Amino acid sequence: MKDYIVVVGGYGHVGQSISRQLGECFPGKVYAAGRNLSRAQQFSRSTNGKVLPLQLNIAGGFDRTLRDRVKLVVMCLDQTDTSFVRFCFENGIDYVDVSANHSFLAQVEQLQAEAKANEATAILSIGLAPGLTNLMAYHAKSLMDHTDALDISIMLGMGDHHGKAAIEWTIDNLGNDFEVVRGDKKVAVASFADGKKTNFGGPLGSRKAYRFNFSDQHVLPLTLGVPTVSTRLCFDSVAITGLLAGLKASGMFRLLRYKPVRSAAVQLFGRMKFGTEIFAVKIDAWGKRDHEHVKVESFLQGTSEAEITAKVAAFVAERAYRAELPHGVYHIEQLFELNPILASMDRSTMFETRTFHLQ
Ligand SMILES: NC(=O)c1ccc[n+]([C@@H]2O[C@H](COP(=O)([O-])OP(=O)(O)OC[C@H]3O[C@@H](n4cnc5c(N)ncnc54)[C@H](OP(=O)(O)O)[C@@H]3O)[C@@H](O)[C@H]2O)c1
Repeated sequence: MKDYIVVVGGYGHVGQSISRQLGECFPGKVYAAGRNLSRAQQFSRSTNGKVLPLQLNIAGGFDRTLRDRVKLVVMCLDQTDTSFVRFCFENGIDYVDVSANHSFLAQVEQLQAEAKANEATAILSIGLAPGLTNLMAYHAKSLMDHTDALDISIMLGMGDHHGKAAIEWTIDNLGNDFEVVRGDKKVAVASFADGKKTNFGGPLGSRKAYRFNFSDQHVLPLTLGVPTVSTRLCFDSVAITGLLAGLKASGMFRLLRYKPVRSAAVQLFGRMKFGTEIFAVKIDAWGKRDHEHVKVESFLQGTSEAEITAKVAAFVAERAYRAELPHGVYHIEQLFELNPILASMDRSTMFETRTFHLQ
């Protein structure tokens, strides 16, 4: 019988919170997996055995016994190829992934036929960004008859704790430029450039955020049919945001291609602890309703990006475990709605939407 859940990276920063939440729902049925058995065992003990330890390197897949007993994998690390995802599909294992790396997610999208043929479901774009940003965009679009453009702005707290994989992803994307969809064309844009001000609401007020390669802006033109989507990032510290934009403009981030510089930047970023734990997301959407031009603004605010990512992942994983979802590869906004996920969160997570008529 297939009744186990394996959280890969399950004792890592985001993974441990997902493992704990799923362990509370399904005690004795959840494995926290990673390459270091003693870390997995130590974590398992901290859950009073509700979460089980598993030594696993995704390069090798599961052994035969486990392969036949795993119903769902929750992936909490960045992969470079789809061999492990294929392994899951071939064994009819459902798959949930918190990665924000679009080049990898695009590779998984190509496995649609394989997932369907093996009666497996994959749900991508799980977390805060991507994840709640996709659902907020979907919600904003649902308030209009037609949506022309969406701006997604994300503010992360410098006082928040971010895991190593998440920091590496951020550092790597400071240096790498990328393409966005504008109308029916792909346009090359520079990372952490082209700053734009938006009002995050309340005391956070208006802040300048800069283009960043979050996967939501690549996925939403396809899943929602919105022709132009842009995602920008800033930090709660205006000084740090300005410093990063200045370093980008000076060309300094080209040095991140060199391994020692990249390692030093990852370490430095991990140690920087000032500012708050607050995150915020703002959606600005332009379109038409009843033949009039309208703008929808949505605001989300809370604390701990990793914790909110884990909450979204645990919500989706629980549904995928309990119910039979359609087979194939999906992004979160194709199977889930924003409100039930927000309702599962505590009161410190605030959401608000406003619609304006434009002349
Ligand atoms: N969607 C969102 O909003 C969002 C937000 C935050 C983070 N994220 C994503 O969440 C993921 C996890 O981030 P994090 O900060 O929690 O990372 P982390 O703390 O570094 O955890 C990564 C985990 O993966 C394990 N691991 C690494 N390579 C492995 C392998 N080959 N086989 C098995 N396990 C392996 C590591 O343990 P060992 O080294 O001991 O194996 C570690 O436990 C990243 O992909 C990040 O981009 C998404």
